[in-house]
Amino acid sequence: MSETFSPTMPLGLVEALHNARRIAVLTGAGISAESGLPTFRDPMTGLWASYRPEELATPQAFRRNPRLVWEWYAKRREMAAQVAPNAAHLALVEIERHVPAFTLITQNVDGLHQRAGSHNVVELHGNIARTKCFDEDVVLDSWEGTGEVPPRCPRCGGMLRPDVVWFGEQLPEQAFQTAIEAAANCDLFFSIGTSGIVEPAASLTQLARHMGATIVIINLEVARLVEGKLYHLNGPAGKILPALVRAAWPQ
Ligand code: OAD
Repeated sequence: MSETFSPTMPLGLVEALHNARRIAVLTGAGISAESGLPTFRDPMTGLWASYRPEELATPQAFRRNPRLVWEWYAKRREMAAQVAPNAAHLALVEIERHVPAFTLITQNVDGLHQRAGSHNVVELHGNIARTKCFDEDVVLDSWEGTGEVPPRCPRCGGMLRPDVVWFGEQLPEQAFQTAIEAAANCDLFFSIGTSGIVEPAASLTQLARHMGATIVIINLEVARLVEGKLYHLNGPAGKILPALVRAAWPQ
């Protein structure tokens, strides 16, 4: 069997996980790939292989073509609702049970961590299941379906939009502050299924490293590497994380 499907876990990392008191985890689209959701930057299947971010994921794009943007997110919202959390999401739930302080920072908007059962989830880029008013920035639970696309805000008549962070927009302040504190104070930091190129989320890994945490990077691109307190593990998170949990807390 190849290492990818039966990963051997570095002993130092198994011990670091077993002994960790404060863990912070940053996840990206790759952790939901095994649930069936596309990532952004896969050259063949990634969302940005078929669409340009500036046509769909900016306030300017929404002003220019609100119907297109609304419908694109509506399709993704449906896809997210139809899939289930995978073994990687569930392994993080298991880790949270074992560790006194656990913060799961996600760039994903699919809500799969919460559906898996993770409790302390910080959503940096919002949640695709929520809708807010474009003009007032107020989240709404319900509105009248008049057939208009996008629907209209019942309060001000403005257009409704998904409650996600678009390029050029600020991250939710409280969420980002919590993420910074978790990254700066953890003893073990995981970066899972993210290309790590979108700021400011990407710099959380550097912050944790700078503050002395053990760093674990899991995705399909990194070459395997063990160098002091830095671990690069190449392979699907749905295989690597459960193997890591089994090694750290054998039944
Ligand atoms: P990307 O598509 O940039 O990166 C996905 C990463 O997941 C890559 O490093 C893959 O190698 C890895 N990957 C794929 N399948 C995997 C698997 N089964 N197990 C482990 N790793 C896997 O997605 P993000 O880094 O999440 O922002 O993208 C960051 C942000 O850019 C998104 O939140 C979104 C996007 O544009 C906004 O829309 C604002």
